[in-house]
Amino acid sequence: MPRMSPDPASAPGDRVAVSASLVVFGATGDLAHRKLYPALASLANAGQLPGRLTVVGNARRAISNEEFAEDVRNAVEKAGDGDSPGRRDALDQLGVRFRFVPGSVDDADTFQQLRAELEDIDAGRDGGGNVLYYLSTVPSVFGTIASGLGKAGLAHEPPGTFRRIVVEKPFGRDVETARHLDDQLHQHFREHQIYRIDHYLAKETVQNILALRFTNTVFEPLWNRRYVDRVEITVAEQLGVEHRGAFYEQSGVLRDIVQNHLLQVLALTAMEPPASFAADAIRDEKVKLLRSIRPLEPSELPDRVVRGQYTADTIDGVDVCSYREEEGVAPHSKVETYLALRLDVDNWRWAGVPFCVRAGKRLQRRATEVALRYKSVPFLPLPAGAVDSLEPNVMTLHIQPDEGITLSFAAKVPGQTLQVRTVPLDFSYRETFAERAPEAYERVLVDAFLGDATLFIRGDEVHTAWEIVQPVIDAFERDAVPLAFYPAGSWGPTESNNLLGGDETWRKS
Ligand code: BG6
Repeated sequence: MPRMSPDPASAPGDRVAVSASLVVFGATGDLAHRKLYPALASLANAGQLPGRLTVVGNARRAISNEEFAEDVRNAVEKAGDGDSPGRRDALDQLGVRFRFVPGSVDDADTFQQLRAELEDIDAGRDGGGNVLYYLSTVPSVFGTIASGLGKAGLAHEPPGTFRRIVVEKPFGRDVETARHLDDQLHQHFREHQIYRIDHYLAKETVQNILALRFTNTVFEPLWNRRYVDRVEITVAEQLGVEHRGAFYEQSGVLRDIVQNHLLQVLALTAMEPPASFAADAIRDEKVKLLRSIRPLEPSELPDRVVRGQYTADTIDGVDVCSYREEEGVAPHSKVETYLALRLDVDNWRWAGVPFCVRAGKRLQRRATEVALRYKSVPFLPLPAGAVDSLEPNVMTLHIQPDEGITLSFAAKVPGQTLQVRTVPLDFSYRETFAERAPEAYERVLVDAFLGDATLFIRGDEVHTAWEIVQPVIDAFERDAVPLAFYPAGSWGPTESNNLLGGDETWRKS
């Protein structure tokens, strides 16, 4: 056995959280219903919820504690699909209690009522003094809520207890607003109390990037500029903007996916080995890597950025409208639904290896993957005609769907002549493991209760990621990068192949 990390913070421990209260702001909203309550029910089924848990809901609408409890049960029932959560009474079975504090987050009185409620819960020794605040609201009120909690004395952690605040992306919309939001959060909460969610980090196969790289001998020696020719990262969705046209108009794929999910995947793929798997050891390495990404110069943007938007076409035989025809979208909108970037990582490991990344909606199929394309062999000791087209080796980490890893290499075709062909070596999660992978929100919730911040994003990561994309945001605002159109159901604008150089094309995922 090799020596192991002495860091106790990265040791797998008992994954059952201590007693706590969970305060949900935006408790009657869509995210809470679709993700949060079903995740709580699954955790209840798995015996991973705090021993005594009270869920305290807040929203403007005045509903009773019992109505709130029923609302949660309905959400759990609705989300059930066969093997997962489904049991509407899963939380009641565990003795979870529900309370509701109605009121606007603009009103200081709401926080006084919340304080009284939490004191009452603690008087009954139900929460152990621990509180997790979950901001399941529109981002524009994140600062207001943090400040309301702080002013009511609800951010302060009495000895031996925790007060944590869980925030969903977007964390601002550019460098400046992200800094402003962080200032607001930090006015009352210290960094160790802030849990910023990027649900991609909670995906099993995203976490597996670290396991693959740092618990095997065979991959890491090939994970650098000596062997890798190019890294391609793809986050492709078949879905359009659904009912979120108005939101998307303010966001675009740059803010929605690239600044957060995609750069996180890139950081995990390219970072140096951490000293341990403890939260800060990993986050330090991610920040170091993000800081090594060469800033994009305005003059080179046309060769480094492709901005696209989908037009009407068919996907899997179904007609879909153009982005501009989506509800809530301006008829002449220039918002990007596709973005491809060519980035350079200026460090010893990766100097000279382009990182080509792309993300888009309404693409041919859903696929999130990282592909390391290896250099070609320096010389082929084969007779002419033995190879039609020898593809370089490619290691592909399939993050979703069909989670797994594929390594493509050349093999001899059976027969009397020496013919070679590219073949895949496949590992599939589904076929190999019987264990159920937890949903991202289950993982996120249990980690927040346990105080394990590994899968959450630290403030400096957020800022560095915004700094990387800020030149692109500025260029889009100046309209300095042309908007290319692509038919829904395609792999995006053909212009994006130009980023790769030569006659190269993106992998057909
Ligand atoms: C969200 C974006 O963060 O991620 C959505 O706001 C996107 O636009 C979603 O559809 C994709 O997540 P997943 O887990 O389905 O890949």
